[in-house]
Amino acid sequence: MDLGLKEKVAVIMGGTSGVGLKTAEMFLQEGAKVAICGRDRKRMENAFSHLAKFGPAEQIFATTCDVTNKEDVNRFVDAVAENFGGVDVLVNAAGQSVMGHFFDITDEQWKEQIELKYFAIIYAVRAVYPYLVKRGGGRIININATLAKEPERHMVATAATRAGLLNLSKTLAHELAADNILVNSVSLGLIRTDQWERRRLKNAPNVDAESYYADLAKKRNIPLGRVGEPEEVAGVILFLASDWASYVSGSTVEVAGGLGKAL
Ligand SMILES: NC(=O)c1ccc[n+]([C@@H]2O[C@H](COP(=O)([O-])OP(=O)(O)OC[C@H]3O[C@@H](n4cnc5c(N)ncnc54)[C@H](OP(=O)(O)O)[C@@H]3O)[C@@H](O)[C@H]2O)c1
Repeated sequence: MDLGLKEKVAVIMGGTSGVGLKTAEMFLQEGAKVAICGRDRKRMENAFSHLAKFGPAEQIFATTCDVTNKEDVNRFVDAVAENFGGVDVLVNAAGQSVMGHFFDITDEQWKEQIELKYFAIIYAVRAVYPYLVKRGGGRIININATLAKEPERHMVATAATRAGLLNLSKTLAHELAADNILVNSVSLGLIRTDQWERRRLKNAPNVDAESYYADLAKKRNIPLGRVGEPEEVAGVILFLASDWASYVSGSTVEVAGGLGKAL
């Protein structure tokens, strides 16, 4: 099945690890050009080397960029557009969650989450918008979490900001439809990425990965009985960026193994 992504330019905010990196890999395999960014230079360089196994180096653009810094984001997107001659797809995948109950979360942590879950998306959408318009349209895919609709007390700051992003995504879908820019959300449950690997190595360094994730799936009552893999998210992202999703906008696709209960 041809997804129609050949030669398309996909900008993946936070594509140096986890879901973003797998998404970049799969875009490349479809013949697209990909741009990735992250804050850590070493991780960015490793990601570039990894991606070079899946497509020609001239179809990969990687640089450091903090998505919560407006100037950084503008610089990154302008450089991508100059390098590849435009932008077709934006995937907002940068970030991580913060654990803690209401009285544990500091003002700084709240502000960080607001910066990451709102402002990073605002900056990126503003930056890509003129380039998408020049192409006659495009796709924006915001990575979200089931937490947006089903808050959990121990992740209060992430859940609250996720809910706001879901709301913003819907408004953007309405606002940008006239420009033929389709905006969708992908809501994740538990996906086995570096984010979870860091938690495993910190909290259960002596437990082997398979047992750890099997136990996690059991504890969280994931209906499909396992945590998800990054490619299971990336496949949905590629579909939403593809010709086959030409009438899909304002939607939220859950990739959570049946975890979400909200209608
Ligand atoms: N994995 C899950 O179970 C899960 C569940 C729900 C939602 N999510 C969401 O899915 C998205 C991807 O997460 P993941 O699990 O793939 O995590 P990950 O493996 O930790 O990857 C996160 C990526 O975001 C980048 N990043 C983080 N903060 C950044 C910043 N300020 N500026 C630029 N890049 C930044 C990281 O690079 P640097 O650190 O080098 O900057 C890295 O490339 C995140 O938004 C996460 O909250 C994940």
